[in-house]
Amino acid sequence: MNGNNREREIHKSWCDGGFQQKHAAARKKVELYVQELNCRYIEKTGTGFMRYMESRMKTPESICGKLKRKGLPEDFEVAVERLNDISGVRIICYCLKEVYWIAKQVEKDGRFTIAKVKDYIEKPKKNGYESYHIILQVPVKIDDVSDIIPVELQIRTIIMDAWAGMDNRISYKKAKTSPELVQSIRKYAKIARRLDTLIQRTLDEAKK
Ligand code: GTP
Ligand code: MG
Repeated sequence: MNGNNREREIHKSWCDGGFQQKHAAARKKVELYVQELNCRYIEKTGTGFMRYMESRMKTPESICGKLKRKGLPEDFEVAVERLNDISGVRIICYCLKEVYWIAKQVEKDGRFTIAKVKDYIEKPKKNGYESYHIILQVPVKIDDVSDIIPVELQIRTIIMDAWAGMDNRISYKKAKTSPELVQSIRKYAKIARRLDTLIQRTLDEAKK
């Protein structure tokens, strides 16, 4: 099968109603849980942590691209087995302490099994990318058939998200980025980190 046919095959399986439905159900479960956490945070502090929340399903094109990058065969079964970010939910909160509060609740709750944690805030990527990633195993049941769907939960501040948006637009997964641009992106990440620290300090001060 050539590249285009493989992509078409993946597209066909991806469009399957059952596949879409169970992924949508898993993301919905995570979103409702995050809403619940936000309510708990309001009760605790008087303010919500949620700036906004995004939920998305990886596109077949993006699935193919990732399989290729990982040197895996472009096959739907392989994608389902090996990629744990086909479904993703992203929480954008205001400050660093909120990122860690949310992560702690998710990890200690036990509602979803934690398959993997990547703390890119403690250890940012080389380009400066920061965010907290948790792969959740979400149980779903549709027409009496049970399944476990992985969902990648990303938790980040508005500042981290602004940086990542800029990076997505000009560099991330782009074939070529000039050394000058790479340097600028790293510099902006440092500024973003400083700003997150200042925002946290200000919020702490305002609470006193
Ligand atoms: P990818 O999903 O292909 O990146 O591989 P991965 O799942 O092995 O890596 P990781 O968990 O580090 O990244 C998952 C997601 O985090 C990506 O799909 C992006 O949404 C985000 N991400 C990771 N690294 C970067 C980065 O350098 N820049 C930006 N803008 N986003 C990133
Ligand atoms: Mg991932």
